[in-house]
Amino acid sequence: MRTVEELLANNRTWAATVSTQNPGFFQRLAAQQTPAYLWIGCSDSRVPSTQLVGLLPGEMFVHRNVANIVAHTDFSCLSVLQYAVEVLQIQHIIVCGHYRCGGVHAALHSHQLGLIDNWLQHVQDVRRKHVALLAACRDSAEEEQRLCELNVIEQVVNVSQTTIVQQAWLRGQQIVVYGWIYDVEDGLLRDLQMRVSSDESIGTQYAHAVGLVG
Ligand code: CO
Repeated sequence: MRTVEELLANNRTWAATVSTQNPGFFQRLAAQQTPAYLWIGCSDSRVPSTQLVGLLPGEMFVHRNVANIVAHTDFSCLSVLQYAVEVLQIQHIIVCGHYRCGGVHAALHSHQLGLIDNWLQHVQDVRRKHVALLAACRDSAEEEQRLCELNVIEQVVNVSQTTIVQQAWLRGQQIVVYGWIYDVEDGLLRDLQMRVSSDESIGTQYAHAVGLVG
């Protein structure tokens, strides 16, 4: 494992490289951020949001937590969402899950890990809601994949139903909420075909995306 001193040295090299390739980059960014995207993803170290979509600092606003949950009582997530929509005027919100998610795995198998079990009840809710679909899977690996996908789809609905996004749509502000999933085995993102751009489209997009799962 690298020492933290190495990380600081890496940072100096990185900052120098970026400044050489793009003179004034940090000075311009220091003045203001104007990201076009909000990313809501898992904390998993294998899913480095900005890096895997090839964006630079300043281009994506990010919220990450275990199992990419959007809970209606989570003030951290809601604050990020409100700031993104109302202050930064971001129009594209990406909820991105990933396969082999430790949180989803623990929820599926009801593993007891401590405090985090309470947080993962949100994934348990998704599991209970789709119990028939999950029961139809061939094996537990497939079941886990499907639960990872369904969890993203449900969180897209949760984003869409927040007062923040609902009121933005009522004001006529354009916001699209997307559901994606990342495969840690090949580094590729997959579009779950969940794309919500209005309150009216939540139901049809949800039915469409859930229909494609499995
Ligand atoms: Co995860």
